[in-house]
Amino acid sequence: MEVLIFNNETAASEYAAQEFSKRIQHKATTVLGLATGSTPLKMYRELSLLHQSEGLDFSKVNTFNLDEYIGLSGDHPCSYKHFMNENFFNHINISESNVHLPDGMTKDVPKTCQEYEEAIKKVGGIDIQVLGIGSDGHIGFNEPTSSLSSRTRIKTLTKKTCEDNARFFNSIDEVPRHCITMGIATIMEARRIVLLAFGEAKAPAVSKMVEGPLSAMVPASILQMHPNVVVVLDRSAASKLSHHDYYYRVATNKPNWQRL
Ligand code: F6R
Repeated sequence: MEVLIFNNETAASEYAAQEFSKRIQHKATTVLGLATGSTPLKMYRELSLLHQSEGLDFSKVNTFNLDEYIGLSGDHPCSYKHFMNENFFNHINISESNVHLPDGMTKDVPKTCQEYEEAIKKVGGIDIQVLGIGSDGHIGFNEPTSSLSSRTRIKTLTKKTCEDNARFFNSIDEVPRHCITMGIATIMEARRIVLLAFGEAKAPAVSKMVEGPLSAMVPASILQMHPNVVVVLDRSAASKLSHHDYYYRVATNKPNWQRL
């Protein structure tokens, strides 16, 4: 697991955007795994700028989002579909038919989940996946105790996640209790994973993910088993890591051929 610590969220997000941009330039049909929440917002802004100023071309790119709330339609202002349109898709030249999010209004959740898995396979799997991390260590909405071999399915959100996400709603009572999320095994099949975390509130979860034991109580710790992960942090999110000095040492001594 590579750990990169930047002075601030902006520098970290620009780095992450470069990772995505380089892949898309290398392979026009890149399949992106995307996340919502506050964490990737600056990265999406940067990628939108790269499209507008340098013509970064998303026309052949496919995207799969990690999750969607059950009970919210795509045009609901708090749905993740709406969030992605507002913060990313409306600003780039992506084709609507290449955008995929679980259908939160489905009448048949297991079938929808199965079809989501099949759709990912059909385009050849996810090339690069961006992740945030919950303050309880979740990735996607795989809450603590989620099976480490889970596939896309329904999950019940913890009280803590509902509280954390209440800021996007009028009140906590409006936060749906259920979601459809890619499973942990689904996420682990992405060829490259870029996990972003910013701010002090994420520091305990980041430290458990990177330096703690592998445990279903900290779903993000499964990333220790992935062969191609980079954890991109600002100083605050990195503040509880004990091998701090080593991560800097690796970054400053990186051979040129390993750089972006
Ligand atoms: C969102 C998602 C979640 C978030 C996590 C962090 O699609 O899957 O795992 O990445 O809850 O959320 P923020 O970025 O709002 O702190």
